[in-house]
Amino acid sequence: MHTDLLARALEHEHHEIDAGIAAFAAAPGDRQPLMRALGALRRHIYLEEEFLFPLLAEAEPALAPPVFVMLREHAQIWDTLDSLEHAAANATGGESAAALTRQLTVQLLHHNMKEEKILYPRADELPAAAADRLRSFLASAKLPDGWVCVKARPRLGEPARAER
Ligand SMILES: [Fe+2]
Ligand SMILES: [Fe+2]
Repeated sequence: MHTDLLARALEHEHHEIDAGIAAFAAAPGDRQPLMRALGALRRHIYLEEEFLFPLLAEAEPALAPPVFVMLREHAQIWDTLDSLEHAAANATGGESAAALTRQLTVQLLHHNMKEEKILYPRADELPAAAADRLRSFLASAKLPDGWVCVKARPRLGEPARAER
């Protein structure tokens, strides 16, 4: 059954991203794997928030609460991503890239486990048309310039993150 590939494809993205982060943790002199993994993680979050989660919540309204928790965790992960990207690029003081890498690893461990247990299996139960749509996004979607995860966006009347 080819929809079976969806959950596995999503899990595969988790593993690839984890591997890039682990490679940087093991050899911090080489930023390439980290930068690739951070880009892949942003795109992965984009796919989940713009395509996977709405499809799941539409097919099964009972999934709205776990989706809400995942969105909140994405915002925390996004914050760490921004800080880590900055620390790795500048090698300046403040929180070190190593500490941020550890923080991101722990955040992803908990987050990914929940997605893989609660949400991804449901992707395999999506109606065929929705599953096909998601599969084609997984294969080809690019992260739009300037896209920010939903719960990390400044709300009306609040200063943008960079100004805080
Ligand atoms: Fe996620
Ligand atoms: Fe995920």
